[in-house]
Amino acid sequence: MPKKFIVANWKMHKTVREALAFLDEFIPITKGLNGREIGIAPTFICIESVGKVLINTSIKLCAQNAFYENKGAYTGEVSPAMLKDCGVEYVIIGHSERRKYFYENDDIINKKIHACIKEGLKVIFCIGETLEDRQNNKTMEILKTQIRNGLLEINSPEALTIAYEPVWAIGTGVVATEEQIKQSHLFIRNQLKEIYGERANEVRILYGGSVTPENIKSIMAIDNVEGVLVGGASLDPLKFAKIVKY
Ligand code: PGA
Repeated sequence: MPKKFIVANWKMHKTVREALAFLDEFIPITKGLNGREIGIAPTFICIESVGKVLINTSIKLCAQNAFYENKGAYTGEVSPAMLKDCGVEYVIIGHSERRKYFYENDDIINKKIHACIKEGLKVIFCIGETLEDRQNNKTMEILKTQIRNGLLEINSPEALTIAYEPVWAIGTGVVATEEQIKQSHLFIRNQLKEIYGERANEVRILYGGSVTPENIKSIMAIDNVEGVLVGGASLDPLKFAKIVKY
């Protein structure tokens, strides 16, 4: 059984000073926690300072994005090689906010996954349907397309984690029902099996969308849920500590 994986996605929150203050509180209360893996994805500007603190802990340094080239004239971008150099282990790719606000499509996402894996980084690949997709009964079709296109010619399931994040559940306080999570995770597992065979079982599938200290226990108990990606509730050290210690 792989360890449950609980990842904080800080999005565009926290200055360096605020990030360090969070760690000052969070690390002592979660020290010695066994049997689960914790990740924190700060903004790029905090990555180095956060990484220097995390190096003395078992918490994994994660990034929220990466570009698909390692260097060049790409104003404003950060490369997988640069992240690797800062001690990053996991990179979140294809988050719905990247898809929505920065027009990332499946092709760009696939290139980013290739580039990260080539650099020896592990990828947390996000997929999920919009409310409209769900209302039109297109959830499974959308998930299938995102998986097939995003993982095109990706042959390293050991480097992959999938985050199932229904777009309508992100930051809304509306969490998907146990049945919806169960169905989608099983569907994702079966899609992965079609691509990777038995190696699909090496891939952890996380749920994301309005995870809180109150609902974490029931979410973690659902079949094929091997962890969570947490936005809003990961910003407060006490709240996030409650989640990782569920
Ligand atoms: P949320 O965000 O926990 O604030 O809903 C989750 C995410 O976007 O990863």
